[in-house]
Amino acid sequence: MCGIIGYVGRSQALPILLEGLKRLEYRGYDSAGVATIEEGCITVRKEVGRIEDLRRAIGQHPVGGTTGISHTRWATHGKVTQENAHPHFDRSGKMALVHNGVIENYASLRTQLEEEGHQFVSQTDTEVLSHLIGRAFDRSAERTTSAMVTAIREALQLVSGTYGIAVIHAELPGVIIGARRGSPLVLGIGKGEHFLASDVSAIVGHTRDVVYLNDYEIVVLNGEGFTITTLEGNGADYNVTKVEMTDEDVGKGDYPHYMLKEIHEQVRSVTDALRGRLSHEEATAKLGGLNMTNAALRSVERVILTGCGTAFHAAMIGEYAIETLAQIPTECEFASEFRYRNLPMTKDTLVFVLSQSGETADTLAALRESKRKGHRTLGICNNVASTIARESDGGVYMHAGPEIGVAATKSFTSQVTILTLIALLLGRIRNLSSSDGSRIIAELEALPAKIEQVLTLEAEIAAVARRYAQAKVMLFMGRQYNYPVALEGALKLKEISYIAASGYASAELKHGVIALVNEETPSIFIAPNDALFHKNLSNIEEVKARGGPVIGIGTQGKGAELSLVCDDVILIPDAPEYLTPILASIALQFFAYYIAVELECDVDKPRNLAKSVTVE
Ligand code: G6P
Repeated sequence: MCGIIGYVGRSQALPILLEGLKRLEYRGYDSAGVATIEEGCITVRKEVGRIEDLRRAIGQHPVGGTTGISHTRWATHGKVTQENAHPHFDRSGKMALVHNGVIENYASLRTQLEEEGHQFVSQTDTEVLSHLIGRAFDRSAERTTSAMVTAIREALQLVSGTYGIAVIHAELPGVIIGARRGSPLVLGIGKGEHFLASDVSAIVGHTRDVVYLNDYEIVVLNGEGFTITTLEGNGADYNVTKVEMTDEDVGKGDYPHYMLKEIHEQVRSVTDALRGRLSHEEATAKLGGLNMTNAALRSVERVILTGCGTAFHAAMIGEYAIETLAQIPTECEFASEFRYRNLPMTKDTLVFVLSQSGETADTLAALRESKRKGHRTLGICNNVASTIARESDGGVYMHAGPEIGVAATKSFTSQVTILTLIALLLGRIRNLSSSDGSRIIAELEALPAKIEQVLTLEAEIAAVARRYAQAKVMLFMGRQYNYPVALEGALKLKEISYIAASGYASAELKHGVIALVNEETPSIFIAPNDALFHKNLSNIEEVKARGGPVIGIGTQGKGAELSLVCDDVILIPDAPEYLTPILASIALQFFAYYIAVELECDVDKPRNLAKSVTVE
């Protein structure tokens, strides 16, 4: 989704801005632009397409200056055009602004400004904000930074919606002003230079000392220092945080794509999700971050799990685990629906919001709605500095390391691992026996080695994937815990290869989907050695009887039986039913990846998608 990076200091801004934009590419975007202050004027360059296109365009018309702002745009209001790309100017042409978020009342404000004689060159909501700030500044008698801050405050009071902004003005060289409400902004502190970004990965190559801005705060930065105040004009408290993420963490290493690197990181990420969280002595999980006593956990009568996309699929697996191991009624709800439903929730309902980025607007809105209604709301996040992590009443961090590939991989398996820990903890203070608890712990401890075994199947899965890469439609089937895996397998394939794929509960096949089965429509069945193995086999037979090719994802020991009915078989290690989703989904991640590579798709930057969707 949209990204911001700004620089002020002694160095030339342009190379720093372009490098920062490159690092923000993973968020998904369709156009990009930069603006710098050069000899008392603002120079702007924008381009539709990739950062490389922008770099090429700039190559012909260089941009100098040591203060600048830049942006990657993911279109919300107005088509993907050069005019709609940021930065946007005010009426005077002296002020430039980049913006993440959505100004919801932009249409009425635009009409009002047009009546006053303002002319707009784009269809964006952002340009309205530029004009509002510029108008307020031009009405002021002073031409100072503090007059600009006042102008920004005045303008922001007129808008509803969300924003993270960075502003420069030709008459205020060496100054950038930022403000946020609902869209993240982080300040980077350097020596004689400062940075402003929407995402810490954009600046981590330059500094580790950062300040995460809160909503309703304004920051003014120049080469020497910075000040943070609230929108009301009061001083704001802040903490300087040391970023743990290294430059290497955000690199691809020797892998051709981030997605492949992140698939391979899952032995480590699952190990890190488990680290220090298993108690052999008490045969349970230790999750101190929940900030809840056993008595409070025991009184939980209902659990709601909410998130979007891949996080929602992990939540669905969590629903099975919590209901099975802890016998607590559990419901999954898309975060975007949760907010607008009036779910009957008693005071003993515990809500979990799942989000890798911790910035997904729908999930954040669900968190706020849940808290507004007085429910204890816990986060399962990867990004520790994210808004969701900070606003939750407690939670469990994934510790998966940065996930850059737009298609989520390791965050999914970390979420499922953590939900299993939560199910174990909730179960052990209810009916789950100590020996069952110990067995689950042993299985969790054996999990990283089993993931390692799945990773050794890479070449085999790649070969199968290549055989099916030309399919136009694919069906994914699974039952119980592996129904969400079927949904996730289909989502991965759709996201990065653009093949129409759908996931179903296997037995649903005969109630409609079977109409799609023919020689050209492969079905992927997740059929581990569980209580429903033979039911799955029958469903496979139904597909085979209609000429449909079948790929079976099974577990070791069941290979022979599966081979009798499937055209191709991939065998993952045997595991209890609550852990097969992790192993099966890694196999399906490879499957989707190698199909996308075969089709020469842009694996890490799929069309139209954003890594972190910060608009509702
Ligand atoms: C976007 C991404 C998905 C992701 C979803 C939720 O749609 O493209 O890959 O699953 O957001 O993201 P979150 O950061 O909240 O887990």
